[in-house]
Amino acid sequence: MAILNLKPTHKPIKLYYQSLKKFQQLGAINEGAVKVAFADLLTACCQQFNWTLVQENSIQLTKKKLIRVDGLLVRDDTLKHGIWEAKDSEDDLAKEVKNKFAKGYPKDNIIFQSPERVIIWQGGKQVFDGEITKPEALVESLKLFFEYRPPQIENWEKAATEFGERVHNLGEKLVELIQSQRKTNKKFIAAFDGFSNICRQSINPNISDAAVEEMLIQHLLTERIFRQIFDNPDFTRRNIIAVEIEKVINALTSKSFSRNHFLEEVDYFYLALEEAAKTIKDYSEKQHFLNTVYEKFFQGFAVKVADTHGIVYTPQSIVDFMVKSVDEILKKEFKKSLSHKGVHILDPFVGTGNFLMRVMREIRKTALPDKYKDELHCNEVMLLPYYIAAMNIEHEYLEATRKYEPFEGICLVDTFSVQEALQLDLFTPENTQRVQRQQDSEIFVVIGNPPYNAWQQNENDNNKNRKYEEVDRRVAQTYSKDSKATNKVSLSDPYVKAFRWAADRIKDEGIVALVTNSSFIDNIAFDGMRQHLAQDFDAIYVLDLGGNVRTNPKLSGTTHNVFGIQVGVSINLLIKKKEGKKSQCQIYHAVVDEFWRKEEKYAYLEKCQHLGGVDWEEIKPDKKNTWLTAGLQAEFETFIPMGTKETKAAKGEVTDTIFKLFSNGVKTNRDVWV
Ligand SMILES: C[S@@+](CC[C@H](N)C(=O)[O-])C[C@H]1O[C@@H](n2cnc3c(N)ncnc32)[C@H](O)[C@@H]1O
Repeated sequence: MAILNLKPTHKPIKLYYQSLKKFQQLGAINEGAVKVAFADLLTACCQQFNWTLVQENSIQLTKKKLIRVDGLLVRDDTLKHGIWEAKDSEDDLAKEVKNKFAKGYPKDNIIFQSPERVIIWQGGKQVFDGEITKPEALVESLKLFFEYRPPQIENWEKAATEFGERVHNLGEKLVELIQSQRKTNKKFIAAFDGFSNICRQSINPNISDAAVEEMLIQHLLTERIFRQIFDNPDFTRRNIIAVEIEKVINALTSKSFSRNHFLEEVDYFYLALEEAAKTIKDYSEKQHFLNTVYEKFFQGFAVKVADTHGIVYTPQSIVDFMVKSVDEILKKEFKKSLSHKGVHILDPFVGTGNFLMRVMREIRKTALPDKYKDELHCNEVMLLPYYIAAMNIEHEYLEATRKYEPFEGICLVDTFSVQEALQLDLFTPENTQRVQRQQDSEIFVVIGNPPYNAWQQNENDNNKNRKYEEVDRRVAQTYSKDSKATNKVSLSDPYVKAFRWAADRIKDEGIVALVTNSSFIDNIAFDGMRQHLAQDFDAIYVLDLGGNVRTNPKLSGTTHNVFGIQVGVSINLLIKKKEGKKSQCQIYHAVVDEFWRKEEKYAYLEKCQHLGGVDWEEIKPDKKNTWLTAGLQAEFETFIPMGTKETKAAKGEVTDTIFKLFSNGVKTNRDVWV
């Protein structure tokens, strides 16, 4: 259970009373003025749990009923913890409570507050009504509000946390089971080999046996969760990939042992979760659990996969900001919108599906069926997120239309090898058809969070990224060829491929919206990439969210980085136009306060809503494609260089550099300790 560590002597409490006193002295006693003090207090408490206070938030009660609350406390990114309503000293608080409930305000966990009094309702009952002029009472009320969990959610959270912690062991257990069968069970061996061949053809020609085992585990792990926890007994019949893998698993388990027997040993992992899930009605509570499984499974069980594939959940405020920004750009620059017919939208790295789900919420209800059928697309290369995304997106559609329709826009495929792979059979004929259909669609928007080597600490981790013929050739021909840097290793990071791939994919007009590693903004090896981005696009907006722990050791990844990782992050919005082109790309840059905690960055994005709310600065790159030129000395350009590649290669005497020869000296191309 979450315990709020708060005492009457703590700073946030003292600050609260001091601010109230100040407001009083200034004669500012109306609700708008005094509620700032309570908002600060709530925010300070939220920080203990990494929760967010979203002020002035709208909540949809029913299809037709929307309420606007002073504050909504959001935990774990998407879950609503409680509501805050502020009043001033002049209001009769009890009467205000009655009024709000008459309007249908929920009684789950709501705190009504005036400078002198607090009333709290939880689980349909009033649990607190008292003066808060004394700090002890104020602390008591806040503890009640923050620590509350409805009993069923408490059980569910406990079971889900436990499951998240055990997911590593569960995976290991399944590996043991599969490996022992691979030694002794002939039918198993044949089926496994057949399945490995399909994977090699469809996903990666170099896929290892361990990775194939892992795929089977991802299926076994989630299939049961979908059936039992998400009441989706037909999942394995409805999902075209699951149908195929079911056949393999049935073949694996049919002859010498039953599937139930096979899974008996891991039964206990699921039971507590399944029991708790029976009492949960709220889909977002369960969905949140899936997101945890997504991150925990890979981070606990397959760390290298998590790194090379960038398996990390994109925070909701980033997704909201990017989707809203794309809609704004469509309206302003193209006189279109996300609902507009013909605007095909693709998330090439779908993960749990949150970008497309958010896009669906932005699309007009009447336009949604057609868009869902033909114009929303996504790819995923790992089985577990592929299942999760399919389930989430189909559920989103069901909620919006009250109708189940399979989502045919999702493909199990490696985005970077789509073209090469299309000559092959991609798992199943349906999947191949889907990939072909996506390939034939004119994509107008590419949106998503590509993988990048986020956890790789050093070269010796050896999480080498896979090589791709086409996209690697394009990076080499452009970003790499036009770079003046000597060391270009960083250009092999998958996020660089993602930019190259997306810029090529949208053809002659469209929008690319990617949240990525921010190193391309100012790192020396990315000069060629910056040059080409500016050539390929008409406008570029880069919102730097900071969090680069390596360049600023005072920062902490978990505290300051929006993904909780070590490398800096930026939201990048790139616009390519067919008509009304400007002669030069306009590049806009904004950067958030370096020392903001990640919750402050989320709150900032929520406040801005979309790119229109950001205070941009236009930047003028110099001749060397440096974007951030502030602080650089222009006269530096006039100095004689120590040496250049050109003079090194030239024959004869040297006149325009100090030295003709230069070298790196002895180096290992490894880390310092080698
Ligand atoms: C950063 S995550 C996406 C997060 C997603 N927006 C979410 O919040 O759930 C990147 C995802 O892309 C997938 N991926 C990585 N490389 C890929 C590729 N080449 N083709 C398709 N999917 C890929 C990974 O498996 C991972 O699920």
